[in-house]
Amino acid sequence: MCAAPPDGEKTQRPRRSLHGRRKGRPIRAARQRLLDTLLPQLELNLEAAAGDPTGQFVPTPAALWLEIGFGGGEHLAWQAGQNPNVGIIGAEFFINGVGNLLKLVEDANLKNVRIHKGDARDLLDRLPEQTIDRAFILFPDPWPKAKHNKRRIVQKQTLDRLAELLKTGAELRIATDDPSYRRWILAAATNHPWFDWNVEKPADWRRRSDDWPPTRYEEKALAAGRQPVYLRFTRRAKMREST
Ligand SMILES: C[S@@+](CC[C@H](N)C(=O)[O-])C[C@H]1O[C@@H](n2cnc3c(N)ncnc32)[C@H](O)[C@@H]1O
Repeated sequence: MCAAPPDGEKTQRPRRSLHGRRKGRPIRAARQRLLDTLLPQLELNLEAAAGDPTGQFVPTPAALWLEIGFGGGEHLAWQAGQNPNVGIIGAEFFINGVGNLLKLVEDANLKNVRIHKGDARDLLDRLPEQTIDRAFILFPDPWPKAKHNKRRIVQKQTLDRLAELLKTGAELRIATDDPSYRRWILAAATNHPWFDWNVEKPADWRRRSDDWPPTRYEEKALAAGRQPVYLRFTRRAKMREST
């Protein structure tokens, strides 16, 4: 079972190191201005979010969504624009990506975005249970070498925590273009007692729906001839009995 810790008791997690880029090309002056001025207004207050994450938004949103590793933020900004009643929290430790999202937020005058600049797992550790209505993990770093597989963000431990954070019936969307990661994700999620894979026919995972825009990484994958999969899981009301 995905064990929920007793009230007030936080799960003890081992220290972890960050893998991947924190910073890429030099940040352009316009992006740096946004990092200096707009980010402080949009940065999620982790301590306050641990109590009530909806309280970080004005007005209070009707639902709360979460995107882990938003990259350049194109998908997150699109969802925020299409769903103004939803508060969307994005986590990303790549500073250039955060700057890019800030530009999209400013250009579209989005009011319903909050940002955790750092490791998404620190955010997952703090958010209260049963508060998230939808979560996205789109094209997570594949770490294809077997010796690096443990660095993958989609792990049983992450799914356990997401099962705690997602409301009953909430959707978890995961995309990948890496065949070995696809098998890994499907094994982890379909064996997980708190998730059902929403699939009836191949088109359900081969195509994005209209409410699922492309990401920058996806466009690169398609240009390189790699076919992504678009996986949707639902957080069950009751834990599945083991067979
Ligand atoms: C392959 S990129 C995909 C970006 C974006 N989702 C897309 O589809 O274009 C993976 C992203 O996840 C971010 N990332 C990886 N692990 C993370 C973590 N633990 N916390 C926050 N961001 C993370 C990386 O910095 C990177 O931007």
